[in-house]
Amino acid sequence: MADALQVLMTRRSVREFLGTQLSDDEVKTIVDAGLHAATAMNRQSWHFTVVQDRRLLDAISGAVGAVMVDSGIPSLIERARTTGFSCFHHAPTVIFVSSDGSHYSLADCANASQNMCLAATALGLGSCYIGSFVQAFDHPSGKHLLAQFGLPENYKPVFSIALGHAAKAAFTEKEREWKVSYIR
Ligand SMILES: Cc1cc2nc3c(=O)[nH]c(=O)nc-3n(C[C@H](O)[C@H](O)[C@H](O)COP(=O)(O)O)c2cc1C
Repeated sequence: MADALQVLMTRRSVREFLGTQLSDDEVKTIVDAGLHAATAMNRQSWHFTVVQDRRLLDAISGAVGAVMVDSGIPSLIERARTTGFSCFHHAPTVIFVSSDGSHYSLADCANASQNMCLAATALGLGSCYIGSFVQAFDHPSGKHLLAQFGLPENYKPVFSIALGHAAKAAFTEKEREWKVSYIR
C-alpha cells in the first residue's frame, strides 16, 4: 500500500486500459474508500453502481455518442464518430455515483468519487473520473439503460469512475502554484 501523500500527488487520469478485469477484492476496497468519504450531515446522499457488463457500458457510450452527434458541435461529432469511441475509455469496470438531488449531494458524490480514484491509485490501478455520460440517460437512445440500474427513487447518476489496469503510465508533473494565494 502506497504512502497517502504519494497517492494524492501521483493520481492521474488514465485513459488507456488493459483488458484485465479488477479482482472482487480490489472493487470492494475501492467501493469502501468511496463509502468512507465525508458527507454533509453524514447523509451519505449517494448510491454506487458497479458495472462490469461490457454490453451495458458500450450501450451507454453509444448513447453518449448520440448526444454528441445531436449537439451539432463539429469537434464532438468527429470524436463520437471516431472508430472505437468509448466515453469510458474501454475500462473493464465503471462505478457510477448517483445523487439523491439534495442540497450538498453533488459535493458528497464528488468526495466519494475522488476517494475511489485515490484508492485505485493506492492499489496500483488506473482510474479516470468521467462526467460526460450524464446527458445520455436523458437521450431517447439512453433513457431505457438507466432502468437497468434499479436506483432508489429520485437518484440520478452524476459522476462515474472508469477503472482498470493502466496500459501506460499517465503521470505528468503539473505546475499548480498560481492557483494558490497566501495572506499572512
Ligand atoms: C467532474 C469531472 C468530470 C470529468 N469528466 C471526464 C470525462 O468525461 N472524460 C475524461 O476523459 N476525463 C474526465 N475528467 C478528468 C479530467 O479531464 C482530469 O481530471 C483533468 O484533465 C486533470 O488531469 P488529471 O486527472 O490527470 O490530474 C473529469 C474530471 C472531473 C473532476
